[in-house]
Amino acid sequence: MLLEVHHLKASYGNIEALHGVSFAIDKGEIVTLIGANGAGKTSTLLSLARLPQPEAPAVSGGDILYEGKSILKTEPHALIQKKMMALVPEGRHIFGNLTVQENLMIASFPHRKEVNREVITGEIQELVYSLFPRLYERRKQRGELLSGGEQQMLAVGRALMTGSEFIMLDEPSMGLAPKLMYEMFRALRQLNFVKHITILVVEQNAKVALDFASRGYVLKTGEIIAGGTSEELAANADVKKAYLGG
Ligand SMILES: Nc1ncnc2c1ncn2[C@@H]1O[C@H](COP(=O)(O)OP(=O)(O)OP(=O)(O)O)[C@@H](O)[C@H]1O
Ligand SMILES: [Mg+2]
Repeated sequence: MLLEVHHLKASYGNIEALHGVSFAIDKGEIVTLIGANGAGKTSTLLSLARLPQPEAPAVSGGDILYEGKSILKTEPHALIQKKMMALVPEGRHIFGNLTVQENLMIASFPHRKEVNREVITGEIQELVYSLFPRLYERRKQRGELLSGGEQQMLAVGRALMTGSEFIMLDEPSMGLAPKLMYEMFRALRQLNFVKHITILVVEQNAKVALDFASRGYVLKTGEIIAGGTSEELAANADVKKAYLGG
């Protein structure tokens, strides 16, 4: 397994948001976490990336194994530097005053010590532009002038530039018109297929998520209440009733 999450507990101050969440992801899989508002989806991703921001919860129990080794003591920065994981957070986080191209280049810092870094970053950048032609068209435009959907693509592009083998996305379809949403998921699927990048995607739209992922878990108030292949979850009566509108 690439990632194993064992009985993970995480809290904001003294409020526990995750009460012992367990799941696993194999190399090359596309897995989704679905659940209602406040279920703990974002908290789970933030706990995995272990970002030092004030809005990230503190892990207060359990363990996170990456290729069998605990990463609880690994600095968040080192997780990115070692190309282990990259998070596309909710709400995008791109640099508005930098151009699209500059946003991408800054995100390529994990490659900076490699001898052939220019070749590597050039190749990934080409991949990003081929996945998202709109970004290529707007490469000289400042981030803040992009549309919401284009900013979302840029956020995904930045995660790719890190060269990480595992990418987590928090509601990548948020605010996207259906056409752009399908473009986004098509790009991610292509990336998984061509580059074998492992993907964990969080979605409120369970139908979209289960169409995209091969496996999923359902989170409810900080606990996993169901898990299985997308087909199994889509056929599960409780999941249907609560998350698929019937
Ligand atoms: N910064 C914070 N401080 C305190 N509590 C928080 C904070 N962020 C989230 N929570 C609480 O933790 C719980 C899980 O929230 P989380 O953001 O993980 O849910 P979510 O599944 O991502 O929801 P959504 O679909 O609305 O994005 C909620 O009860 C929420 O109120
Ligand atoms: Mg969230």
